[in-house]
Amino acid sequence: MIDEVFMLRAIELAKNGVGKVNPNPLVGAVIVKDGMIVGEGYHMYYGGLHAERNAIASCKSKDDLIGATLYVTLEPCCHYGKTPPCTEAILQSGIKEVVIGSRDPNPLVAGKGSGILRENGIIVHEDFIKDKCDEINRVFFHYITKKTPYVVMKYAMTMDGKIAASNGKSKWITNESSRMRVQDMRNSLMGIMVGIGTVIADNPMLTCRIEGGRNPVRIICDSGLRIPLESQIVKTAGSIKTIIAFCGGETGKAEELKRSGCELIRTGQKDGHVNLTELMQILGKMGIDSLLLEGGGELNFGALSEGLVNEACVFVGAKIFGGTAKTPVGGTGVCDIENAFGFLLENVEKFDSDVLLTYLRGD
Ligand SMILES: NC(=O)c1ccc[n+]([C@@H]2O[C@H](COP(=O)([O-])OP(=O)(O)OC[C@H]3O[C@@H](n4cnc5c(N)ncnc54)[C@H](OP(=O)(O)O)[C@@H]3O)[C@@H](O)[C@H]2O)c1
Repeated sequence: MIDEVFMLRAIELAKNGVGKVNPNPLVGAVIVKDGMIVGEGYHMYYGGLHAERNAIASCKSKDDLIGATLYVTLEPCCHYGKTPPCTEAILQSGIKEVVIGSRDPNPLVAGKGSGILRENGIIVHEDFIKDKCDEINRVFFHYITKKTPYVVMKYAMTMDGKIAASNGKSKWITNESSRMRVQDMRNSLMGIMVGIGTVIADNPMLTCRIEGGRNPVRIICDSGLRIPLESQIVKTAGSIKTIIAFCGGETGKAEELKRSGCELIRTGQKDGHVNLTELMQILGKMGIDSLLLEGGGELNFGALSEGLVNEACVFVGAKIFGGTAKTPVGGTGVCDIENAFGFLLENVEKFDSDVLLTYLRGD
């Protein structure tokens, strides 16, 4: 009898890898014998041993594995990557039954991992609590199939839909708890991207302020290299990876930025700005599997228009600004309701009097 409890535990274990395994998947594994957990493991860091091997290694004795059942959130790999195939470790261990949550869309594994186990006499169950297992690897599934970053557009707005006061200042629309949640996002996604308008208005650092957390790669969309050399971003580019995406000619400013430690990416032009679709392809090739798009409104519209936004995280602060201040998505807007960018509501979280609405792209 296979039991949900053990897969739910494997999912919890997998989440320990958040922010550490990208662009690899989050994976958790639990080994069960006679109804008791005898081994547990998860994929801990990029290039490290996979969850199945860590779970096998955690068992006190080899006898624990004989006839045991392995619960694993993602189909076991069957190819040589940074580590040897997990299917080999499972076959050598004595495990007799494997319960898999998500199927691996990676063409090197898809269907082959479970196939090898079956061919060697292991009882294999697939798609067990699949939705919950799939949920933790949205980034991986997107990246492995599309080869571009999974983009999460995040913004904080007032109850009347403003992202800054009329003087352009946006600190702070939301409370401390909401802002801590944003730090979790910065820690879990590999990159953070803003437009030059936001850098000029706010002079942000765009770092992760969680103790022991990881700074995302900072990407600034700045077609004509307007970024001030004295901005916090440029001043800290020597120690925090920073990419300036532009689409003009190479100038003396480009050289100065490179000397400050910035990496420059030149794209073609799209409506006079950085070509975001091309930029996503370049970032994907660099191994960046996910991006937090932190605005502002002009860049958000650019990304939406090019169909690059996969998820939207909308914080609503309990304040009203009124007037004609900026809204989360600017640009020319859509001319008709039929052309609206459609989303599906995924989750609602409350942080004191703030709310976080998470939406997934609806197509
Ligand atoms: N509340 C919030 O969550 C939040 C978050 C962020 C910002 N903000 C506020 O928003 C304001 C800034 O927003 P903003 O809309 O003025 O600026 P923005 O979106 O940060 O930057 C816009 C600029 O980005 C550049 N860009 C490069 N490639 C682009 C592309 N493909 N599509 C669109 N733009 C591209 C363009 O200038 P070039 O072509 O010259 O490069 C454009 O003018 C500030 O007041 C800031 O405080 C609020």
